[in-house]
Amino acid sequence: MSGGGLNLGKSVFIKTYGCQMNVYDSNRMVDLLEVAGYSKTEHLSSADLIILNTCHIREKAEEKVYSELGRLTKLKTKRKEQGSKILIAVAGCVAQAEGKRILERAPTVDLVFGPQTYHRLPFMVQNAMAGGKRIVDTEFPVEDKFDHLAQGSQQGGPSKFLTIQEGCDRFCTFCVVPYTRGAEQSRPAISIAQEARRLVADGAREITLLGQNVNAWHGESPSGGEWKLGRLICYLAEIEGIDRIRYTTSHPKDVDDELINAHREVPQLMPFLHLPVQSGSDKILAAMNRHHNARDYFHTVEKLRKARPEIVLSSDFIVGFPGEEDEDFAKTIKMVNEVGYAQAYSFKYSARPGTPAADIIDQVEDSVAAERLAGLQQLLRAQQDAFLSAQKGKKVKVLFERLGKQVGQICGRSPYMHPVHAQAPDSFLGKIAEVHIAEVKTNSLLGKVELGKRLARNAAVAEGVSL
Ligand code: SAH
Ligand code: SF4
Ligand code: F3S
Repeated sequence: MSGGGLNLGKSVFIKTYGCQMNVYDSNRMVDLLEVAGYSKTEHLSSADLIILNTCHIREKAEEKVYSELGRLTKLKTKRKEQGSKILIAVAGCVAQAEGKRILERAPTVDLVFGPQTYHRLPFMVQNAMAGGKRIVDTEFPVEDKFDHLAQGSQQGGPSKFLTIQEGCDRFCTFCVVPYTRGAEQSRPAISIAQEARRLVADGAREITLLGQNVNAWHGESPSGGEWKLGRLICYLAEIEGIDRIRYTTSHPKDVDDELINAHREVPQLMPFLHLPVQSGSDKILAAMNRHHNARDYFHTVEKLRKARPEIVLSSDFIVGFPGEEDEDFAKTIKMVNEVGYAQAYSFKYSARPGTPAADIIDQVEDSVAAERLAGLQQLLRAQQDAFLSAQKGKKVKVLFERLGKQVGQICGRSPYMHPVHAQAPDSFLGKIAEVHIAEVKTNSLLGKVELGKRLARNAAVAEGVSL
C-alpha cells in the first residue's frame, strides 16, 4: 500500500508485551506503518494510533492489557474533548485468543488483529479511520506474512532479531502458543539470509534467530531440499559481518546432532543456550506433554557441553503444575543442582482457558505453588550470582550497543548475555572489544576496555591527559 499522503503527519505509539517475537513483530508493524505515512512516537499522549502488542501466556500478562486499556479509555476521551481522534488497536496473542470478546470488554478498542495478519495492518487502519467501524481480524491466512512485511531498517544497536519460524506443533498441555500463533511454519533459508544481509548492512553484528520453537525450524534450503537449524546456522555464519549468532527459544526434544555440531563448529554461535526444561519430574514432564524425560534432558546437556565446553545454560521452569507433589518439586530442585544454570525464569503455573492442563482437576494450591516458587528462585538466584561473580578478573568480549548513563561509559553484552558497563571511547559502539572485568554488580558487570597503545594515547589526548 502506498502512503498516498493520507496519513502524513500521523504518529503511532506501540507498546510491546511478551516474548522477543512480539518485539520483532512490533518493529515490522512500525516498518509497515511508516510506508503508510505514520511515524513512530515514544509519546503516548500525542499518538494518533496506539497499538498494544499483547501476550497471553499467563493470566497476569492478559490482565495487564485490560488495565492498560482502562487507562487508554481516559486518554481517548480527553483527546476527543480536545477535538482529535485516536485509534486504539490490540494486536498479538491476546487479540488472537480473545478476538471480538475484547471489543465487548473494552469498548474503547477500534481494531483487534492477530499475529498472522500484520501485513494487512495499513488497510485495517485506513478502513477504521474512514468508516469508523470496529474491526476484528484474527484469521490464519494462507499467504505467508513474511512475504508481505515491509523490510524497513530496524532502529537501534548492533544486536538484531530475525524471526525464522512461527507457531508451534508441540502442544505442551499448559501452553497457549499453538492456539495463538498457529501451526509451525518455517521460512525458507534464502529469505532468512536476505534479511540477515540487510540487517548487517544496517549495522548488525549479532543476530538472534527467533521462533516460538526455533529449533523445530525445517525450512527450504537454497537448492530446494530441506534443512534443519544446525545447517541454517552454518549457512548464516558465512555471511560476512555476522560476528555473533544466537537462537531462542528451543525445545529440548528438537536439539538434534546437527545443531550440537553447529555449537562445536561455528565460533560465531554464542556459548549461551536457553533450553527450557519446565520440570525435573518425569511424571510432570509427561503430563506437560514435553516428549522427553529428565534423563533425556541431561543427556542433551552433556552432549552440548562436550561439543562446546564453555557453553552455559538458561531455562524456564513452571512450578505448581496440576498434580505436582513435593517429590516432583524435589526432582526439579535436584535437576537445577545437577545441571547448574547461569540464568533462568521461573513461573507459577497459570491455568489458561482452552489448554488441556486447565481441565485437570488436581490443581495445586496457590500457597503451595508460591512457596515452591520462592524456594526454586532462591536456588536459581544463587547459581546466577555465583556465575556472575566468577566473571570478576576475567577478560570478556563485549558487543557494545549503547552509551552508558555515566560520561565515558558505554554498555554492551558479554557472550553470556551479561550487561557490561565499561570505560571506553564512544568509537567502540557497534564493535566487539575485550573488557577486563573489575567489579560485579547485582545483575551486571563493570570494567575497562583494554585499549591498544594508539587508542589509549588518543583517548588520553581527548581527555586532556598526557601519557
Ligand atoms: N517455546 C518455549 C516456551 C515459550 S513460553 C518452550 O517450549 O520452552 C515461555 C515460558 O512461559 C515457558 O517456557 C513456560 O515456562 C512459561 N509458561 C508457558 N505457559 C505457562 C503457563 N500456563 N503458566 C505458567 N508459565 C507458563
Ligand atoms: Fe508452548 Fe513451547 Fe510447548 Fe510450543 S514448545 S507448546 S511454545 S511451551
Ligand atoms: Fe506471549 Fe504470544 Fe510470545 S503468548 S510469549 S507473546 S508467542
